[in-house]
Amino acid sequence: MLILGIETSCDETGLALYDTDKGLLDQVLYSQITLHADYGGVVPELASRDHVRKIAPLTQQLLDQTGCTLNDLDGVAYTAGPGLMGALLVGASYARSLSWALDIPALAVHHMEAHLLAPLLAERKPPLPFVALLVSGGHTQLVRVGQLGEYELLGESVDDAAGEAFDKTAKLLDFDYPGGPAVAKAAARAEARNQKLGLESRFRFPRPMTDRPGLDFSFSGLKTFALNTVQQHSPLSDVDRDDIALAFEEAAVDTLVIKCRRAIKQAGAPHLVIAGGVSANQRLRRQLENQLEGEVYYAPPQLCTDNGAMIAYAGALRLQAQGGDADLAINTRARWPLNELPAIAKS
Ligand code: KG4
Ligand code: ZN
Repeated sequence: MLILGIETSCDETGLALYDTDKGLLDQVLYSQITLHADYGGVVPELASRDHVRKIAPLTQQLLDQTGCTLNDLDGVAYTAGPGLMGALLVGASYARSLSWALDIPALAVHHMEAHLLAPLLAERKPPLPFVALLVSGGHTQLVRVGQLGEYELLGESVDDAAGEAFDKTAKLLDFDYPGGPAVAKAAARAEARNQKLGLESRFRFPRPMTDRPGLDFSFSGLKTFALNTVQQHSPLSDVDRDDIALAFEEAAVDTLVIKCRRAIKQAGAPHLVIAGGVSANQRLRRQLENQLEGEVYYAPPQLCTDNGAMIAYAGALRLQAQGGDADLAINTRARWPLNELPAIAKS
């Protein structure tokens, strides 16, 4: 079964072909980073228009790269939510049109389920049951995964998502958008400098909501703490910026690690899967590996952030298990709780 996956939920146009016998054939990804950079964040209307511009040429590029034709497709999977409504509608309309024209089933994929399943595309695959930490620009959630498709929400952020906190802190520090990788780089610089000089981290930020029981997160306080530190030390030197980035990253990562440890205990599932853009963060991976007894699983770096491969893969699993439909209705959902999904029945 050959499945085309289409991702357009935010600022990346991603397409991929997944073959249920041969695995991932190839993927193409177009990032709109330069389009949104001047605004310091994603401008929804610009994002939708750019998806419209790129989606057909990228499909052709993917077909050329793989030597496939549209007639080889057995199904088309697309991100139907959660995400930016206009951006989602581009991928959904395109996918539904292909499905109708080629007379093949289409399948609406949940973006966060696709992130959660992406680590199954790595060579080292997590055994069930496991706890998943989903950390992206829009979500921070801890989920117990008993079976594929069976998601029990254990905790989530009551305000900003982890990635959003990285992005907002980056903005305060005048780093380029998207902020997560920029903060991580700055923190690594500060850490290397401290190690060379035998120094501790210069600032210590709080670890929010870790001193009381529960698995929810709050990241907006960290951003305020970063703002106050910036104001106290302005004008900032490059070294100040790096030191603040390190303090923020240490606090955000520590908080995530503490909650993961708790979640594993509570869920009675020893292994952890991390997924979503922030799961590319090296400190997070390192700390989880050092501090958890069970194994930690994640996707290869290029499959942590938004991409078409995870959509093609999640779509393939669900198409095999439950089939798609040839419905012409273009349904998208800006909000879509993960636990509303049906279990992926074994085929
Ligand atoms: O999953 P994703 O690509 O998009 C959403 O579904 O939101 O995640 C994007 C988020 C952004 O907030 C970005 O700053 C963050 O992931 N991110 C990182 C890193 N790489 C991406 N955050 C921390 N460290 C990184 N290395
Ligand atoms: Zn995402």
